[in-house]
Amino acid sequence: EEATSMADFVGAVDQGTTSTRFMIFDQGGEEVARHQLEHEQILPRAGWVEHDPAEIWERTRTVIEAASREAGLGPSDLAAVGVTNQRETAVVWNRRTGRPYHNAIVWQDTRTDRIAAALERDGKGEVIRRKAGLPPATYFSGGKIQWILENVDGVREAAEAGDAIFGTIDTWILWNLTGGTDGGVHVTDPTNASRTMLMDLTTLDWDDELLSLFGVPRAMLPEILPSSHPGLYGTTRPDGPLAGEVGLAGDLGDQQAATVGQVCFTPGQAKNTYGTGNFLLLNTGTELVRSSHGLLTTVCYQFADAPPVYALEGSIAVTGSAIQWLRDQLGLIETAADTEPLAASVPDNGGVYFVPAFSGLFAPYWRSDARGAVVGLSRYNTKAHIARATLEAICYQTRDVVEAMRADSGVELDVLRVDGGVTANDLCMQIQADILGVPVSRPVVAETTALGAAYAAGLAVGFWKSTDDLARNWHESKRWHPTWDHDHRDKSYETWKKAVTRTLDWHE
Ligand code: G3P
Repeated sequence: EEATSMADFVGAVDQGTTSTRFMIFDQGGEEVARHQLEHEQILPRAGWVEHDPAEIWERTRTVIEAASREAGLGPSDLAAVGVTNQRETAVVWNRRTGRPYHNAIVWQDTRTDRIAAALERDGKGEVIRRKAGLPPATYFSGGKIQWILENVDGVREAAEAGDAIFGTIDTWILWNLTGGTDGGVHVTDPTNASRTMLMDLTTLDWDDELLSLFGVPRAMLPEILPSSHPGLYGTTRPDGPLAGEVGLAGDLGDQQAATVGQVCFTPGQAKNTYGTGNFLLLNTGTELVRSSHGLLTTVCYQFADAPPVYALEGSIAVTGSAIQWLRDQLGLIETAADTEPLAASVPDNGGVYFVPAFSGLFAPYWRSDARGAVVGLSRYNTKAHIARATLEAICYQTRDVVEAMRADSGVELDVLRVDGGVTANDLCMQIQADILGVPVSRPVVAETTALGAAYAAGLAVGFWKSTDDLARNWHESKRWHPTWDHDHRDKSYETWKKAVTRTLDWHE
């Protein structure tokens, strides 16, 4: 027997849009511990969404401490820790004091719409699409950094002097876990960097031409290291929340992490995560597939020194948050789960279609001028039809991106792997299978985002030997099969597309 004890677990921080969690997994990929806390959504005006970076770090500390304590595990029990995060959200802070210059500007924030529109108008859209794989949009970090540089006193000078530095939330968390105010590591990974509009997808490096479009000095930017990094980004501080030194070895944006957690390692495999929005990612292998149908080309993961794996992504802004809207704004339901019995109380949508284009439409439309619409109403309709139309909207928007994927990649899905909160809604998943005409499959471990970050970290340190090991950990818990006939499926999808046209050109 070895004298030294082996660590039996891997930890993962999952810093999401509404909450932060720390989870601990065992060798089989099973959850051993978790703790989760929400943070404030700061909404200073219509269209603006901010988070307080100090609060996010405080929540991160607390969930790490609480989950470890509840599980009775210390730093020597953890082989490594991974980090995954809400993507695109931008923080700029001072390298010496560790203090942010401004609240984080969140991915949903639309204050940079004029920056995005000007890029398109000035003919810069083409170079951004070609190099970064993204259309100019408020969604990505580049314009958010530009906004902070232009609107917060002293930041431009500090950035040029190398004092003001930028990070997505992974970078902010890794900085604080490794050093805090006296200087942590300043790093990110290619999945997060691929959401900034500043990285060239083929070189995996910051690109001077893209930087110049946003006026971002290179000195602000973190070093881009592999998503699974045997050399480690750093180790946790002994006086930090883990109370010991553990290697930080995995870093992925949350949707890419969920793709890894769903073990979509083979080109042609796809997963769809149902959260506040939906994010469908299709692994396209080492081939960079460019979209001509409104999808994003993005880095799926880069493990150690292997070539990067790319993905096509369909990002949908409003899905689960449409259910929250029924609950909070309309008061039609008391809890999100109420949509299931309410929608099930009618046999169909009664002719009603709901397009929740609350912040314009993301993929595959990218129309910031769109606004939400409920169409097809007659006196016959009840709130049950509205509830059903809301669940259908989640599924039709998913079909829109699946159609775009098929057109871009030629890949026909034979099954859609799903995860996320809304997948607890049985009826919604049945409707999804019906609308797609493809079976829908949910794994036993539904926390695929944290699991994917743990996988990346564990692979780096040899806790797991290969992606084949991980694939063996994946087990199906439930599968839904399509029941609609072709005719019904085609006709209702045509009506959905007509409903979408009713939301466009809705200038305020
Ligand atoms: O691109 C935005 C996405 O990363 C947000 O995911 O789960 O934090 O809402 P989530």
